[in-house]
Amino acid sequence: MSDYPTIIQGGMGAGVSNWRLAQAVSKLGHLGVVSGTALDQILARRLQDGDPGGHMRRALAQFPVREMAERIQQEYFISGGKSERTPYKVLQLHGKDGPREREELCVVANFVEVFLAREGHDNPVGINYLEKIQIPHLPSLYGAMLAGVGYVLMGAGIPVKIPGVLDRFVRHQSATYPLHATGSQEGEEAELSFDPASFVPAGLPPLTRPRFLAIISSNVLAAAMLKKANGSVEGFIIEGPTAGGHNAPPRGKLQIDENGDVIYGERDQVDLEKIRQLGRPFWLAGGYGSSEKLREALRLGATGIQVGTAFAFCEESGLRNDYKQAVLEKIAHSAVRVVTDPTASPTSFPFKVAQLDGTLSEQEIYLARARICDLGYLRETYRTPEGKIDYRCSAEPLSVYASKGGKIEDTVGKRCLCNALLATIGHPQVRNGNRTEPGVVTSGNDLTTLGRFLPADHLAYHASDVIANLLSE
Ligand SMILES: Cc1cc2nc3c(=O)[nH]c(=O)nc-3n(C[C@H](O)[C@H](O)[C@H](O)COP(=O)(O)O)c2cc1C
Repeated sequence: MSDYPTIIQGGMGAGVSNWRLAQAVSKLGHLGVVSGTALDQILARRLQDGDPGGHMRRALAQFPVREMAERIQQEYFISGGKSERTPYKVLQLHGKDGPREREELCVVANFVEVFLAREGHDNPVGINYLEKIQIPHLPSLYGAMLAGVGYVLMGAGIPVKIPGVLDRFVRHQSATYPLHATGSQEGEEAELSFDPASFVPAGLPPLTRPRFLAIISSNVLAAAMLKKANGSVEGFIIEGPTAGGHNAPPRGKLQIDENGDVIYGERDQVDLEKIRQLGRPFWLAGGYGSSEKLREALRLGATGIQVGTAFAFCEESGLRNDYKQAVLEKIAHSAVRVVTDPTASPTSFPFKVAQLDGTLSEQEIYLARARICDLGYLRETYRTPEGKIDYRCSAEPLSVYASKGGKIEDTVGKRCLCNALLATIGHPQVRNGNRTEPGVVTSGNDLTTLGRFLPADHLAYHASDVIANLLSE
């Protein structure tokens, strides 16, 4: 157990915990974690932006199947980058059965991100996925394993069938994964499948089986994971409701306070005694980004902590610079508010939104955006009355959603987080040559105290400052 990290830099999607941040953290001997969310789009857009520094092309050149990497480079790379008014290519959406080009892009993009995060050191690097975004799981995991990922961390769902997938991919064997489809009857279970043999040549050496850490917010779920998982679960991240990104819904009836925040109570507390009894390493997350909280976590029997917000605003993160600066300025000179929004995310999980001018946290900006769903990661898979598989998103145009059996009341307040989060890392889609997708900044409640990392004379700090602060006496 001693070679487990004390500090895990949490996965932050999409693209906030990119290869640069994870590499910086892992180089310092802690666990850097890249976000595995939407990496296919992110790679395609980085290439269309001209791949400054040549990092994507350097990693592509290391991909074991040359032709596959070359096809992707040929398709997306624009020397010098696309013009600001030119839209990014619209990719065919992921579906249960492909398309093949999208699966290739997924395998390669996950490889690229992990490959780059591992460059220049020998320490492990992790990758984070949201269980709810199921369709890309298999090609993504395989791509990350091809690049030697050391840890897979997954939350936002109950990933009982992931450990078995990791076991199969060690020997490049085909794997399946149950696809949840709303409205399916017994006997109608849908399944995703992926066979490495149709992507890579035979005879590749076995891969290393990454350690699997499940991100959960209740001791009942942790126990269920151990009981039902189809392979080994090496440990748990216990994430509380102050953490950035998506949060687990509160137990019982959803209640909102006068400021519009989701209310969490006693029943949402995790029973750490029960977690300790499971006998697996665990890390505490959600407001643990300080040396006092690290010491507290260790006293409580944790192996360490997972920290997100403190890393999200450091120099190495993928968050675009104007947003980073605006947030840090607010922290230094006034205050910034974070809302636990019950409706913003199409997943219907509460989602933390930092209130920042010019982003989707502003109602006028939200209302001015025409609804469009062209990235589709957060779509819900459902069964049509004819028994077919289809997809819908509560942030897509209302008439389209309703025509697929979606309820109009479920669309209220929904943000297209797919487009917004890509805008937040500097790859906003351009509409009609002049409208640029607005971003949205997610962060934990810890945001309000980030001033502790800021030197007196400027508004920037590094991942190493966060680590030094966490380890200070
Ligand atoms: C910008 C941001 C994005 C996040 N995205 C994800 C994500 O994609 N997947 C995930 O499991 N957790 C995500 N998280 C949660 C972090 O991994 C981590 O558990 C959490 O931030 C810890 O709490 P803290 O923010 O108080 O440090 C995100 C957090 C932030 C701040």
